[in-house]
Amino acid sequence: MKNNIFKTFINFTKNIKTTGAMFNSTKSVEKALCAKIDESTKIVVEFGTGYGNITQAILRRLPDDGKLYTFEVNEEFVETVKNTIQDPRLIVINDGAQNFENYVKEKVDCFISTIPFTLIPKEITIDIVTKSYAALNADRFFCKAQYSKLHLKKFKAIFDECTTTTVLDNLPPAHLYYCKKTAIPNKMKGIKKNRFRIAKAL
Ligand SMILES: C[S@@+](CC[C@H](N)C(=O)[O-])C[C@H]1O[C@@H](n2cnc3c(N)ncnc32)[C@H](O)[C@@H]1O
Repeated sequence: MKNNIFKTFINFTKNIKTTGAMFNSTKSVEKALCAKIDESTKIVVEFGTGYGNITQAILRRLPDDGKLYTFEVNEEFVETVKNTIQDPRLIVINDGAQNFENYVKEKVDCFISTIPFTLIPKEITIDIVTKSYAALNADRFFCKAQYSKLHLKKFKAIFDECTTTTVLDNLPPAHLYYCKKTAIPNKMKGIKKNRFRIAKAL
């Protein structure tokens, strides 16, 4: 989908409290965010569809028998994406990431998020991240792009391993997190209840 930069700028800026951005992510961010998707990836969940630029990058990498659920709170963005991306593997949902469990009943192989966690209340952030960890298959990743490293400690408290990288050719530069659920969870972090408590305390 060729998106009009001016239209994106106007609509992202108009909705800055939920978009947290003025421009689409760049191609470098798209590529880096999709790095953990391979032939064995069947179920992907995206948070923050926007105008669908990352959605399309995910679809390019997703196998033919894969499925992508994408969540977006802005109704206008949802309608645009539904009208412009026709792909039988894609399910576009006009609802918040915090409600993903109402729609996604399978275990997930990869989460891709560009929602602005810094603008979302802390309790909801922790709820989304904890539920995502629980829904993820072992040895799989929650990949996220953000403009700050705020919340990194929370992600580290919930996930078993987290690495970060910075993509400079984005405006502003984007911090990418790759947060992994390992097959044998880190014993120090223990059960889900403890993860929630640790993250909440940070
Ligand atoms: C920074 S924009 C990213 C758009 C696009 N994915 C990109 O990277 O260019 C963030 C998007 O997340 C959406 N959003 C914000 N809070 C959300 C939530 N709780 N659940 C789902 N989408 C949300 C916003 O409406 C916006 O479209």
